[in-house]
Amino acid sequence: MTAPQAPHQTRTFQSVLVTGGAGFIGSHVVRTLLRNHEGIRIVNLDVLTYAGNLSNLRDVEGDARHTFVKGDIQDGALLAGLFEEHAFDAVVHLAAESHVDRSIENPLAFLETNILGTATLLNAAKTSWTARGCMETSLFYHISTDEVYGSLGEDGLFTETTPYDPRSPYSASKASSDHVVRAYHHTYGMPVVISNCSNNYGSHQFPEKLIPLMIRNIVEGRELPIYGEGVNVRDWLWVEDHAAAIDVILNRGWVGDTYNVGGLNEWRNIDLVHKLIELVDAKLGREHGQSKSLIRFVKDRAGHDMRYAIDASHLEARLGWKPSVTFEEGLAGTVDWYLENQDWLEEVTSGEYQKYYEAHYTNRG
Ligand SMILES: NC(=O)c1ccc[n+]([C@@H]2O[C@H](COP(=O)([O-])OP(=O)(O)OC[C@H]3O[C@@H](n4cnc5c(N)ncnc54)[C@H](O)[C@@H]3O)[C@@H](O)[C@H]2O)c1
Repeated sequence: MTAPQAPHQTRTFQSVLVTGGAGFIGSHVVRTLLRNHEGIRIVNLDVLTYAGNLSNLRDVEGDARHTFVKGDIQDGALLAGLFEEHAFDAVVHLAAESHVDRSIENPLAFLETNILGTATLLNAAKTSWTARGCMETSLFYHISTDEVYGSLGEDGLFTETTPYDPRSPYSASKASSDHVVRAYHHTYGMPVVISNCSNNYGSHQFPEKLIPLMIRNIVEGRELPIYGEGVNVRDWLWVEDHAAAIDVILNRGWVGDTYNVGGLNEWRNIDLVHKLIELVDAKLGREHGQSKSLIRFVKDRAGHDMRYAIDASHLEARLGWKPSVTFEEGLAGTVDWYLENQDWLEEVTSGEYQKYYEAHYTNRG
């Protein structure tokens, strides 16, 4: 095993392939990279599953440094052509099937996209960087999840050396892809870096995930379904802080290193839902706690992990990153965003957003 190596200096990548950049975190990453790196060129490759929404990137549409390509990370020929045309020196890989409940319903799609898709992408990078003689100066950055570590008891935190113990088809597929990325590093000398992050929240998140789903249902006076007794614990991180961490790791992360990214911010699901009820009811001028009666405890998710919690001290010690907002600030801003962007929620829930690509992109040269 090679020990992680510090870069000689902050890297400045010129031509970056971002995968999954029309998704929730990916769209924030694209925006962050464009904002922070004037000379960067980004190709954003996304197949636009139900979770991909190009209207998430409306504000960078006119930016000539950003090119959107609709395509699948499992398409080796497409990847080879893109590497040839754009001579990428870095890959920031976020494309994935990402929802645990869907992975329980349809595990194969997760194994295909998350494992085979990652392997196809690694292979395209290896082929191109080897042919161009630039393997050493390139970087493959793989974005992963804390769910690969399994479930914690009442105390303890996941560190970068916690053994992998994934339990859902989603986390098993992400764990496998992490292993494949490390295999390309150790076997072929590909410079790689991996980060494993806790639950993200913020604007533009598909409303199947807990926080936007609850906000929407509270606003509309619908039932608030909570798995089991609501005592499962998750660590929550503001998506823009995650995007900032990804930028730092891309440019200064040690080659071969792994970074846990988290908010030191644990919440039981039921307490988080109470907090959201408080915030949304107050914003809408309703009586305090009025929406509590909407809570419904439903049959627990199969194999539901009890607790995730992240020790992010390695990232802070080595690269100086830490979250920029408190959970109170981040959550209040998030509630405001969903309340002010009801049309976005409406577009997403009605399926209207899926017409955005045809309407805005297909007639361009
Ligand atoms: N959301 C979280 O809390 C969280 C936490 C830690 C890690 N992650 C990881 O971060 C990444 C992004 O997560 P997210 O929440 O933004 O997910 P998301 O589901 O919102 O977005 C995923 C994007 O990938 C695209 N995609 C899916 N399959 C593809 C394929 N075969 N080819 C090309 N594009 C494809 C989708 O169209 C979508 O735009 C994932 O790798 C996920 O595992 C997410």
